[in-house]
Amino acid sequence: MIQVTAPAKIILLGEHAVVYGQPAIAIPVLRLRAVATAHKAVPGSGLQIVASDLGSSLKIATGTGEALSDNPIHVIASKALNVLGIEPPDLTITVQSDIPVASGLGSGAAISTVIARALALALETTFDNSVINDLVYEVEKFHHGTPSGIDNTVIVYERPVYFVPGRDIDFFSVKGSFHFLIADTGVGALTRVAVGDVKKLYQQRPEHYQPIFEAIGNLVAKAQAALETGDYLQLGSLINQNHAYLQELTVSSLELDRLVEAARKAGAFGAKLSGGGRGGNMIALVAKELLPIVRSALLDAGAVRVFETVLE
Ligand code: PMV
Repeated sequence: MIQVTAPAKIILLGEHAVVYGQPAIAIPVLRLRAVATAHKAVPGSGLQIVASDLGSSLKIATGTGEALSDNPIHVIASKALNVLGIEPPDLTITVQSDIPVASGLGSGAAISTVIARALALALETTFDNSVINDLVYEVEKFHHGTPSGIDNTVIVYERPVYFVPGRDIDFFSVKGSFHFLIADTGVGALTRVAVGDVKKLYQQRPEHYQPIFEAIGNLVAKAQAALETGDYLQLGSLINQNHAYLQELTVSSLELDRLVEAARKAGAFGAKLSGGGRGGNMIALVAKELLPIVRSALLDAGAVRVFETVLE
């Protein structure tokens, strides 16, 4: 039996602007994970991937080739088999995940990552992280159109990343422990739609929106320095400023603003929406001793779920 895992992720700063070439920072959420378990199956039974959490169980037939299906599990398995240059083996891969789906936590990228890793290991080989990263990015594209690539990168490498599209990946270490609360508005929102709406705004008034993207990029650069020097106050302030720019990009919502406000009032260093926006999650940087207070403030303000993650 073979077992592999991959974490969830959250964007700390820089979403949306990253689509326009600016830097963004994302961190892995180590406690929430996708797990794939591979078992050899009887000869002739073929490759079966069972993902009960996603209501999916499918057989990858011989010779399926490239993306004949629009099922992401099928797509990653076919692409991984193509790279390995083999027909589907007799194998059953079972996927389980604690990562809430469609909420900006990278559930799809984590599941693609574990399927590719499990398949390679079961065939007594391994993919380099760079190969898995490219494969998972292809699946992300299949879904989201023009993803920046930040989600797959942070999930595959499982390290905080300072991500600039088209540049070499810049991993970094932080000084001290940064505690975050991630709160879910419970409102479903498609990243693709928010990204499309920002694009329309940008195309109508590039002279107005380009400086906003650049200002966000500047905040992200300062945030990396704050993380590297353990400057909580500065990071909190940068997070708050980033939220104001995201409001200008029209990707916040009443529910997100309510949670952001509640976290700040309860003493968070800073709070902002995270990811595509319009719904989904927000993130708050909180001193360790205030975590319970901020958590209850978020729940009182309507959060349907609050997770804690620490970056150290
Ligand atoms: O909704 P999420 O967490 O997958 O984040 C999307 C981040 C965007 O910058 C809005 C889009 C992207 O591809 O980077």
